[in-house]
Amino acid sequence: MQKILLIGAKGMLGQYLAKTFAEDDLYLWDRDEIDITKPEVVKAKISELRPQVIINAAAYNDVDGTETQPAAAELVNGYGPGFLARAAEAVEAILVHYSSDYVFDGEKEEGYTESDQPNPISRYGASKYLGERAVRENCQKYYLIRLSRLFGSRGIGQGVKMSFVDKMLELAETRNQLEVVDEELSCPTYARDLAEYTRALLGSGEPWGVYHGANSGGCTWYQFAQEIFKLKDIEIDVIPVSGDKFLRPARRPRYSILLNTKFIPVRSWQEALEEYLVES
Ligand SMILES: NC(=O)c1ccc[n+]([C@@H]2O[C@H](COP(=O)([O-])OP(=O)(O)OC[C@H]3O[C@@H](n4cnc5c(N)ncnc54)[C@H](OP(=O)(O)O)[C@@H]3O)[C@@H](O)[C@H]2O)c1
Repeated sequence: MQKILLIGAKGMLGQYLAKTFAEDDLYLWDRDEIDITKPEVVKAKISELRPQVIINAAAYNDVDGTETQPAAAELVNGYGPGFLARAAEAVEAILVHYSSDYVFDGEKEEGYTESDQPNPISRYGASKYLGERAVRENCQKYYLIRLSRLFGSRGIGQGVKMSFVDKMLELAETRNQLEVVDEELSCPTYARDLAEYTRALLGSGEPWGVYHGANSGGCTWYQFAQEIFKLKDIEIDVIPVSGDKFLRPARRPRYSILLNTKFIPVRSWQEALEEYLVES
């Protein structure tokens, strides 16, 4: 049994990680217990607890909001992981941290491997890339896991947002026609599968470094929406539109499939989505 500190425990991924690691000596912290943007607090609290593993699922996820107010994202996604990495190094803990497909520019149609060079095109993506570098530069024992389009039951934190899946289901309650962007090819990630992937990686002895933990296969938002309605047997007219139909402050990568070339393959996003929709 390992002493594990889970930060961001009230978020969507955090809730699934809490279940997956429930048999361990697990400490569940969120904003009330630690503010990861405060280096002195992070250092003091972690050196007192002395966990063997720190899993950081805390993040600032407002992609469009970051364009006009980048400071919060830079602190939580960029500097916070660096403070955690330093604190992890001081107590010789392993740090698990999560990043995003938005660190890539989206020009590579065939998808990105773990070693491809990030080149963010939004301020949100830049904040996540800052966090990746801060982890790499400040501790030796780390797993940096990238994912995209997280779905699962909504977290219980104050600021957590609805997933695309739940947003589509909510919209379908009041509309019989929906326009959805038929661009931005990426891999949906089921939070339950990612939590299992994290546990498997921690137990694997694989080298420290970057991993891609999304479900396999890719889709545009339109294809994602179609699959949701098909699996839920919802009759709705889904219309494919181009990205410029909606004014969104942040640019999105056109292609950001996360290729998993280093660790066990994760099941397809369609299978994972079906399981989530049956259970919810
Ligand atoms: N959601 C996606 O589609 C997506 C896509 C790609 C990558 N990711 C990455 O996946 C990971 C998990 O994301 P998620 O969607 O599960 O996140 P989430 O649901 O937004 O949860 C994040 C949690 O972190 C907490 N938090 C925020 N700022 C904090 C701070 N300064 N100190 C301590 N805790 C803080 C939040 O508390 P409050 O609610 O009180 O703010 C919340 O409970 C993150 O690294 C995220 O960047 C997510």
